[in-house]
Amino acid sequence: MDMNNVSTAPRAPGARPLVGHLPAFLRSPLAFLRTLPAHGPVVEIRLGRMPVMVVCDPELTRSVLVQDRVFDKGGPLFERLREAGGQGLATCPAAEHRRQRRLMQPAFHQARFPDYARIITQRIDTVVGGWHDGQVLDLGITSRSLTADIVLSSVFGTRLEPAIHARLAADFDTLMAGFTRHTLLPKPLRKVPTPGTVRYLRATERVRRSMTQLTAERRRRGDAEGPEGATLLSMLMAARDPDSDTPALTDDELVDQAVTMYSAGTETTAGALNWSLRLSATHPDVHRRLTGEVTSVLGGRTARWEDLPHLTYTRQVFTEALRMHPPGWFLTRRTEKDTELGPYALPRGTTLAYSPYLISHLPELYPDPLRFDPDRWDAQGSKPRVPFAVFGGGARKCIGDEFSMMEGVMLLASLLSHWDVTLLDTRLTQPRLPQLTLNPGRLRVTLTSPARSATSSP
Ligand code: HEM
Repeated sequence: MDMNNVSTAPRAPGARPLVGHLPAFLRSPLAFLRTLPAHGPVVEIRLGRMPVMVVCDPELTRSVLVQDRVFDKGGPLFERLREAGGQGLATCPAAEHRRQRRLMQPAFHQARFPDYARIITQRIDTVVGGWHDGQVLDLGITSRSLTADIVLSSVFGTRLEPAIHARLAADFDTLMAGFTRHTLLPKPLRKVPTPGTVRYLRATERVRRSMTQLTAERRRRGDAEGPEGATLLSMLMAARDPDSDTPALTDDELVDQAVTMYSAGTETTAGALNWSLRLSATHPDVHRRLTGEVTSVLGGRTARWEDLPHLTYTRQVFTEALRMHPPGWFLTRRTEKDTELGPYALPRGTTLAYSPYLISHLPELYPDPLRFDPDRWDAQGSKPRVPFAVFGGGARKCIGDEFSMMEGVMLLASLLSHWDVTLLDTRLTQPRLPQLTLNPGRLRVTLTSPARSATSSP
């Protein structure tokens, strides 16, 4: 590399001694991220003493994502995620990634989607059918338990006992609540057994224990095929190492994948669904068009696979919610060798971050970026179908991208088909610290039977 033609990335203004930009990042991380592109295409921020290069340019973001062996999974985020998810597909280093991805990709083949959609319809029917007129519930919680149930029963091919389900959900809440704090604490402080740290570490252990139980039981039962044929879990259990003919994944590695699927596939889609419901509830014109489409396509029933091509506006609303509040909003990488990014030199071991949130709010890509406008995604012309980088990119692109779009559209349409959803409180209850995913938190709503469906049923 010719180091004469490269320079050092600028540092964002406002760093304070010792704490750097941490106060601004913690106080209002999204607003802080939006200020960064003004300072350059790659900008250094200091999280405490830790320097992090934030990529502020779409082309350079693409460059980072496609060179996954140079910009490998690493940095504080993935170091912490590995404590719970081990070396699963989302957290493993590039050297291990191709083997795992090859094993798992068939479960996400398009041909499987009609079967997955059938399971999604059944699961929604069961949950939504149990609600009653006038019921008050927190959709923030319900959405997550629905998406957990859906991803585990369809893709992964297993069902959780209600007691395990409840315990996992509670442990995940603890993980989510403590994650940022634990990630940003300097290493020596992470070992101090404060009540918060103890709660966080115990929850991490219990999540792994629940998943160990789940996979061990499944192995004991030995039913390799689920009702819909081979599932991800059965495929992973059956996979053999071509050289030694031993199982391709150890029990521990299976647990890593179970934790990965649960965490990557649950909070993300639930967050996007919750934002879609919230944003449409607070934008009457969008809400009218959305419920109009849902009523005319579904007529009061749950969405099915065949309905998806007709739920175009529903997809636009879900996509715009993803753009405004991308669940994965700040993702770290570490350089595996001395390299360059645009005009800047990055030595080996540099921590970088790319931010789907920052990219989704660049006015040159999305004019008036803070405005909720599902019409950005109308099907005219050759526009991209999802916001750039919200599912990552390159070899590490989200394996569940198409699955979650299908699931999100079916959930959003079905909830609004069965029920009129009225927000009880339009104020946002933001968590004290930014969390691993962007989620609107509590979403207390009242459900009422929609008069409209009675007249429009086919
Ligand atoms: C709206 C929903 C979702 C969003 C926004 C989302 C976002 C992302 C992003 C940004 C990445 C890349 C992370 C990085 O670059 O470090 C990723 C990876 C991943 N996602 Fe998703 N995800 C969603 C749903 C799902 C679902 C439903 C599943 C599983 C069924 C899933 C499983 C995964 C896995 C396993 C990876 C790692 C892929 C690899 O490294 O090969 N995600 N996701």
